Amino acid sequence: MFKEMAPEKAYRLLESGPVVLVTTQSEQGPNVMTMGFHMMLQHEPPLVGCVIGPWDYSHAALIESAECVLSLPTIEMAEVVTKIGNCSGSEVDKFDAFGLTARPAATVAPPLVAECLANLECRVVDRSLASRYNFFVLEVQRIWVNENKPERRLIHHAGDGVFIADGETVDMSRYMTRWQYLMD
Ligand SMILES: Cc1cc2nc3c(=O)[nH]c(=O)nc-3n(C[C@H](O)[C@H](O)[C@H](O)COP(=O)(O)O)c2cc1C
Repeated sequence: MFKEMAPEKAYRLLESGPVVLVTTQSEQGPNVMTMGFHMMLQHEPPLVGCVIGPWDYSHAALIESAECVLSLPTIEMAEVVTKIGNCSGSEVDKFDAFGLTARPAATVAPPLVAECLANLECRVVDRSLASRYNFFVLEVQRIWVNENKPERRLIHHAGDGVFIADGETVDMSRYMTRWQYLMD
């Protein structure tokens, strides 16, 4: 009935959120990378766990500054998102090369990406698992959403550069009786 799948492909089934861009800032300027390995850890204060490895040029900037912005690209950006995740900021000015517009953030040095649907300004609050898993805990400081962007479909990485776009919305809010305090 079921076809077995290799355990190391678990992320293809579980990868929780949309693919995001991570901007960082160093003396060399702003940089951006693509990230699929992230997850919400806590509502309040809002904590996000993410994996950013030493193979990424962004890693050093994140360690050094303890700040980043998570930017949410929509489906028309899929090609650029993939290309950003296949080259290094040590060799390419990715904002320039991929036509991204950097906008100042309110609380952190790394820029927002104007083309994205939303931008989350974050600070690293725990890196105790960084040497073991390249795992950083970020606390979200401010969130900026572009309410006028016509395209709103985020993309989810299914592996090998294939993305699944957000689809139908199903509203089950009437059954969220136990979690009223979290609802608007
Ligand atoms: C779809 C996709 C998802 C990725 N997810 C991650 C991730 O979760 N963590 C990570 O460290 N690198 C991830 N990468 C790889 C980085 O984006 C890639 O190493 C990038 O070139 C780093 O840029 P930088 O060297 O300028 O920091 C991903 C790449 C792609 C294309």
